[in-house]
Amino acid sequence: MKKNNLKEKELLSAREAAIALNVTPQTIKNYIYAGRLKSLKTPGGQHRIRRSDLNSLGFSPDNKNGEVMEQDDLSLLFNQLFQNYLEAIKVLLTSFDHREGITAGHAIRVAEYASLLGKNLKLPEKQLQNLQLAALLHDVGKLEISDNVMSKAGKLTSEESLMIKEHPKLGEKIVDEVNFLKPLRGFIRHHHERYDGKGYPDGLSGESIELEARIIAIADAFDFMKSDLPYRRGVPMDACIREIKKCSGTQFDPQVAKVFINHPPRES
Ligand SMILES: [Fe+2]
Repeated sequence: MKKNNLKEKELLSAREAAIALNVTPQTIKNYIYAGRLKSLKTPGGQHRIRRSDLNSLGFSPDNKNGEVMEQDDLSLLFNQLFQNYLEAIKVLLTSFDHREGITAGHAIRVAEYASLLGKNLKLPEKQLQNLQLAALLHDVGKLEISDNVMSKAGKLTSEESLMIKEHPKLGEKIVDEVNFLKPLRGFIRHHHERYDGKGYPDGLSGESIELEARIIAIADAFDFMKSDLPYRRGVPMDACIREIKKCSGTQFDPQVAKVFINHPPRES
């Protein structure tokens, strides 16, 4: 089919739409599945796309917009790939749910709170994606610590406490093994650092702690307070907010804490 004919046809097949946009038919289907392009189905289940809907994607039969669309395709595919990674990591974390201290539920909620905070801090998309991944994996180092310590019901010995405090460094080592997770190393290593320098493992302070780690620290503490534990009920929302305010400038970055307090997560 020649592009010129497209001017006359109002309804195009996926293949014709692909030729018109200089992309593959699969890309057209991806646009449809992602809800970015409307498709009318034929009785036989084939896609039919209105030419005017292609225009809304930036297509005009006379322009040479192939390059622009390819760029768009790439970011669409990248986003789909990223969502697949997230889903895979969530499923893997769920398989460790029996372990004390590393429940998938906690990791997923921390990722949600961190992501909301990152959006309210107006972080760019790529930074937000890495933040979300790091928040999901922030406690992954706990997998390296023995069941006896992680699941111990009674008080921990000082040696056992020290072992648990190793988890940010162990987590850093784990993500360092995976190429696309390498940029998260510092965010995971430093999620227990404190703004006043009294955290661990490196005793960093202020903005020498990565912004992502400062965000995860608040999201992590908030989820810990909100959650029911074997020895206490979850803390009500208003008390959590008061506590974050109280620790602003000592445990938490005051700017990040302020944004969190002004735009807290919705109560579920
Ligand atoms: Fe942690």
